[in-house]
Amino acid sequence: MKILVSGGAGFIGSHLVDSLVNDHQVLVVDDLSTGKQEFVNKQAEFVKLDIRDAKLKKIVSKFKPDVVYHLAAQKNVRISLENPLLDTEINIIGALNLLQACLDNSVTKFIFISTGGIYGDTDDLPTKETGEEIPLSPYILNKLTFEKYLKILAEDKLKWTVLRPANVYGPRQDPHGEAGVISIFLNNIIDNKTLLVNGDGRQTRDFIYVDDVVRACLQAIDAKQEIYNIGTAKETSLLDLIDQMKQVVNKEVEVKHQDAIVGEVIRSVLDNTKAKQELKWQAKYDLKKGLELTFEYFKK
Ligand SMILES: NC(=O)c1ccc[n+]([C@@H]2O[C@H](COP(=O)([O-])OP(=O)(O)OC[C@H]3O[C@@H](n4cnc5c(N)ncnc54)[C@H](O)[C@@H]3O)[C@@H](O)[C@H]2O)c1
Repeated sequence: MKILVSGGAGFIGSHLVDSLVNDHQVLVVDDLSTGKQEFVNKQAEFVKLDIRDAKLKKIVSKFKPDVVYHLAAQKNVRISLENPLLDTEINIIGALNLLQACLDNSVTKFIFISTGGIYGDTDDLPTKETGEEIPLSPYILNKLTFEKYLKILAEDKLKWTVLRPANVYGPRQDPHGEAGVISIFLNNIIDNKTLLVNGDGRQTRDFIYVDDVVRACLQAIDAKQEIYNIGTAKETSLLDLIDQMKQVVNKEVEVKHQDAIVGEVIRSVLDNTKAKQELKWQAKYDLKKGLELTFEYFKK
């Protein structure tokens, strides 16, 4: 098959491309705003382009993909709050530019990587796909809005599947980003820096290893027109995470607490029953194994 991956030079997208290139012809479209060309598998074609660019249509019509994975995004929550216009230009207008090119060129399947952040600070845990949508930032609101655009515009012309990953971690995640606590902490440990925990550290997340997310992406090719949570269904507090990290890195780790961030989600964990049943998918990596693999990568 011919498969186009937007955001294929990024953290998750580049791992997805690695797992596709042996069986498929792959084209990566990425503007390298946060991604890196060195992450793009040599077996894939690469076009450096902003998804908002009008040239995208030509690229899609020339390559004629059967399947499109859409991962390119402005994914920084703080930037989305400071500059909602930019976030909307990339995450709505850019995404629509890609979707329209797919509709015009008879693409068969569109797989959108949304986010499990859509449930906000819900008490309904672990949260199912039917859980209330509580977008707390323009970034999340735009992810949710594009999910709805996709449903409306695809109609019977284009098959779609939406994945809502929880907190993804693993090799190649940017340790200098605003999110990605595991890569930030592991790199601080390697550099002998203190780990800064916001608030009491009892806030929880559902940490899912990147290879598990990639396998869900592969399963999505033949999946129904549905939305699937992709998480472990296990809730881990930051304090528990640090304890597990200490075991993996086997060295002293200094931890300092700083003020809690106003509006930060306190608890988050996704119910993954639907993905298990319908995608025939389940998370294979427990946190310890995932931390070991991620630590090995960053040490190098
Ligand atoms: N990392 C997570 O925990 C997580 C969780 C849920 C959902 N997601 C979603 O998964 C996707 C990939 O995230 P990631 O963590 O790999 O981030 P990333 O920043 O590593 O990847 C995003 C990629 O998109 C590219 N990009 C950004 N704006 C672009 C534009 N205008 N045109 C073309 N390319 C552009 C970047 O250069 C980068 O390579 C995003 O859509 C994100 O919202 C990530």
